[in-house]
Amino acid sequence: MFYSRVIGVASALPDQIVPNTYFERYLDTSDEWIHKRTGIRNRRWVAEDESGLVLVTSVLKDLIDLYGSPDALIVATCSPDKTLPSMAHRAAEQLGIHGLMFDVNSACTGFMSAFLQADALIKTGTVNRIAVIGMDVMSRLVDRDDRATVVLFGDGAAGVMMERSSKQRILSHHFDSAINTTNLLIDEGSWLEGVVPKISMRGQEVFRLAVRQVSQSITDSLNHAGCGIDEVDWFMCHQANQRIISALASGLSIQEDKFYMTLSEYGNTSSASIPLGLDHAVRSNALQKDQLVVLSSVGAGMSWASSVIQWR
Ligand code: COA
Repeated sequence: MFYSRVIGVASALPDQIVPNTYFERYLDTSDEWIHKRTGIRNRRWVAEDESGLVLVTSVLKDLIDLYGSPDALIVATCSPDKTLPSMAHRAAEQLGIHGLMFDVNSACTGFMSAFLQADALIKTGTVNRIAVIGMDVMSRLVDRDDRATVVLFGDGAAGVMMERSSKQRILSHHFDSAINTTNLLIDEGSWLEGVVPKISMRGQEVFRLAVRQVSQSITDSLNHAGCGIDEVDWFMCHQANQRIISALASGLSIQEDKFYMTLSEYGNTSSASIPLGLDHAVRSNALQKDQLVVLSSVGAGMSWASSVIQWR
């Protein structure tokens, strides 16, 4: 049995910044409403001819330049520009690497699902080094005329390189999903009907489920790791709504500033949101070697997952 650890992180964002005021021009909404109800000020959106593949390839290139080529690549995404071949395979081809290549889709829980698979692949000795990249272009999945969803989402990619380790740095995982919640956050319409599916959401129910399950998942993952909540240096949670984070902090009796936030500038970037937070935290020197971090996410399904890790 081997251990695994995260050795590095990188991110790539589209250049186009979309401020809340953009929506004021054509929807019955305001910067004030959006910021007050969500905590979001800006998000990045890809240009019309820009592919998410460019973002994945850019993150992969940075990870390879810094840490060497991996034996495997998992891309978590619910918005691939096409399904065949996988985003992972196409990005790998552009950079001339080969090995185990596949995509996973569990919506906003995508990065966490890929992360725990990568950990298992290393622990069983199947691979030595693996890149795990979350990428989503949510701007292509939202109905731009639906004020209740369009303002929430952004585009981006970010990922980590993981490697076999002699020390245990990934301490626990917790994951689960609910039954009878597949209708809370869905693609309305389907390819079967000849319609491009667009996101539709029962916002308040999603909000309540997110607070309840992420909170339980954080507690369970810490118990499983044998760590107390006071020992945690950073909570790196999925970025969906500042009020979800405030509710988590208050329910778990944690200071809110222990939750690392990128939401205000990038919105909900789905599969990219957790590694994007990690990359920012490293770049700003907030996240330091040996610190204890809880990663936690919730997404359409609904599903949720948490991991407790010691940073590098
Ligand atoms: N601008 C102005 N008004 C808006 C609006 C917008 N962008 N979006 C919705 N509204 C309106 C609604 O139509 C509603 O109007 P009504 O009272 O006339 O019917 C009113 O604001 C209140 O809507 P409500 O849904 O109760 O607001 P809310 O406080 O629950 O906030 C969300 C809505 C979507 C921001 C919030 O529910 C949320 O963040 N949910 C979780 C979403 C999430 O996490 N999704 C991703 C999970 S991975």
